[in-house]
Amino acid sequence: MIMKKELRKAIIAGNWKMNKTPGETGALIKEIIPLAMNADCTVVVCVPFTSIAVAAESVKSSPVKVGAQNVHFEASGAFTGEISAAMLKEAGAEYVIIGHSERRQYFGETDETVNKRTKAALEAGLTPIVCVGELLWEREADITDEVVSRQIKLDFAGISAADASKIVVAYEPVWAIGTGKTATSEQAQEACKLIRDRLAALYGRKTADSVTIQYGGSMNAGNAAELVAKEDVDGGLIGGASLKAADFGEIIKAASK
Ligand code: 13P
Repeated sequence: MIMKKELRKAIIAGNWKMNKTPGETGALIKEIIPLAMNADCTVVVCVPFTSIAVAAESVKSSPVKVGAQNVHFEASGAFTGEISAAMLKEAGAEYVIIGHSERRQYFGETDETVNKRTKAALEAGLTPIVCVGELLWEREADITDEVVSRQIKLDFAGISAADASKIVVAYEPVWAIGTGKTATSEQAQEACKLIRDRLAALYGRKTADSVTIQYGGSMNAGNAAELVAKEDVDGGLIGGASLKAADFGEIIKAASK
């Protein structure tokens, strides 16, 4: 029997967060390219806005893809400091992270704006990486299911099944981000399966089975293999370890098995 997991290509995406100037970007990508050359997973680097153009230039004639870390939902207009989906696309991005917990925590991102940004990204032909996940006290209060189910329902509101299958979901428990505290592979599997079940309720099993669902939160060279081996964990969204080529390379290797 072919496992559903084998039908989905794992995605290993680095979220560089607010790190690397345009000048530093090319050097790190140069180190990453050989590590991605024979990978049996998709490799993405989500860089700061100012590094997208140089990243796109650097990955030419390599399998590495470039992503952004946010996108505004309007096409243009008086939105000082914001960047549209068309701008990202023209700069060379193919992916965009939406609703990262740092955006939700520090910049007032809500499920409503996550939903709008996701639609804008899809319309421009970008692949959204939509982040969901519970806070520590929500897990401790045993409401992870409610929190993540609510995020999935709201973030996917009004999105068709055809579009839903183009979306990547990243399960990022907030307590595991940048803390060195990784979810166990069982916790990651449980949450990723929960997300897939919620998507199945919205769109049917076939669509849900086609969606790539990543785990993110202190994933590193040492723990990646166990996490990505789980049935419903299709790769990872990696912060800190994605800034060290050797570590990122180990994670790519783990996802290529
Ligand atoms: P860390 O890998 O640094 O914990 O960050 C995870 C993350 O937020 C990826 O988006």
